[in-house]
Amino acid sequence: MIGEEHRPSAGGDRQARPAVTVSYAQTLDGRVATATGQSKWISCPDSLRFAHEMRAGNDAVLVGAGTVCKDDPRLTVRHVEGTNPLRVVVDSALRTPPDSAVLADGAATGTLLAVTERAPTERRERALSSGATVLILPSDPYGRVDLKTLLDELAALGVGSVMVEGGATMITSFLRARLVDRLAVCIAPKVLGSGIEAIGDLGIRDLSRSITLADAAVEPYGVDLILSGRIEYPDEPA
Ligand SMILES: NC(=O)c1ccc[n+]([C@@H]2O[C@H](COP(=O)([O-])OP(=O)(O)OC[C@H]3O[C@@H](n4cnc5c(N)ncnc54)[C@H](OP(=O)(O)O)[C@@H]3O)[C@@H](O)[C@H]2O)c1
Repeated sequence: MIGEEHRPSAGGDRQARPAVTVSYAQTLDGRVATATGQSKWISCPDSLRFAHEMRAGNDAVLVGAGTVCKDDPRLTVRHVEGTNPLRVVVDSALRTPPDSAVLADGAATGTLLAVTERAPTERRERALSSGATVLILPSDPYGRVDLKTLLDELAALGVGSVMVEGGATMITSFLRARLVDRLAVCIAPKVLGSGIEAIGDLGIRDLSRSITLADAAVEPYGVDLILSGRIEYPDEPA
């Protein structure tokens, strides 16, 4: 084995959780992909450079297993100068294909797979042999990776900032768990009608319970707009 397998350490001093920024590209009607899951490219080249600047400005970039299986992203910094962040794939049963870019591009030592006990041993060993780190975490009530523990473990590894790039299920889970500090949404002048919605149900039934963006700023990037700001949650969860 080349990579390392980790489990959360019991007790000990906890570091502060990393700052979490959610960033994604959506259409005017709030879709992050077509109904068939196609998302390359909703945003224009200028916005793509912004996304790569964000990657370079964070210690880690995080996506869900759905995005890796559908898009096979490299999650590296390419369109600007900068250092590659740690690539984190949240993947309860370790379904990331062995030939996916994050495991097979020769830089898997910069990849961390956050899994649960559901991840079969042979898949863990295969990922370790590619050089990736496998972090075995407790499950949330739905049997998926517990995101709070994941952030605590990333903090223990020295990660101070995380960019969550998607997809929709992951973004929704982070918001539902109130783990998001900032949001940066690229809004492209396109309409899809049907498609994958950026954020799923958060249980909010009353406008006064909305999650809001404070200190919001809007900047044009080519034909797109990027809206960013600090997330504020209502006093009590919905
Ligand atoms: N426009 C954009 O900016 C953008 C960015 C990224 C992706 N996308 C698009 O989004 C689509 C993929 O989105 P998706 O929603 O299907 O997949 P996703 O959010 O990337 O991944 C979701 C999967 O992550 C795993 N997971 C493990 N722990 C989790 C937790 N606590 N909470 C939530 N998920 C957890 C689950 O699979 P297991 O149960 O197997 O672990 C879950 O099904 C693709 O079509 C892609 O093109 C668009």
